[in-house]
Amino acid sequence: MLVIFLKFLHFLALFFGGVSIASSIVQSAHAKAKTPPAPPVQSAMRTLGFISLGAILVLWITGIALVQALEGALVLNWAFYGKLVGAAIVLGCSAALNFLSLNAARKKTAPDAALMKKFVSGARGGLLIALIGVAIAFTPF
Ligand code: HEM
Repeated sequence: MLVIFLKFLHFLALFFGGVSIASSIVQSAHAKAKTPPAPPVQSAMRTLGFISLGAILVLWITGIALVQALEGALVLNWAFYGKLVGAAIVLGCSAALNFLSLNAARKKTAPDAALMKKFVSGARGGLLIALIGVAIAFTPF
């Protein structure tokens, strides 16, 4: 029962993590239009970033709990560790993005767009690694 609940939370967190896509679409639309996002849009984007960070934290918490709960029944192969490397990159980039945008909001300036872009690309790369890792790790060959 605990495993089912943890898996449910793990998958729910995946769903919530997806909101970061909305934020990057809005960001690139503004970059293309060469207009800074209006303050309410900036605040909504900060909220989306915060939800994504919460989601990756829940993925880590429920993931670690699943490893404990499924001890022995789980194949901890190289692909699983690859998934963890990807998930760690996503966590680091998401934390950095939240820090940069909160810091900028506090100083009432726009966050450094070039640096933000680097962390967004990093998060995407990390997610790609994590998803490839999970696809391989949980496939019985
Ligand atoms: C970007 C981060 C992550 C993504 C996208 C992700 C995705 C997934 C997916 C799709 C599954 C289902 C696989 C299947 O049943 O075929 C899964 C299961 C699992 N994940 Fe994650 N995960 C992430 C992070 C983590 C982390 C950080 C850990 C551990 C520290 C973790 C531990 C697990 C475990 C143990 C299962 C296996 C449950 C089972 O046996 O079915 N995950 N994950």
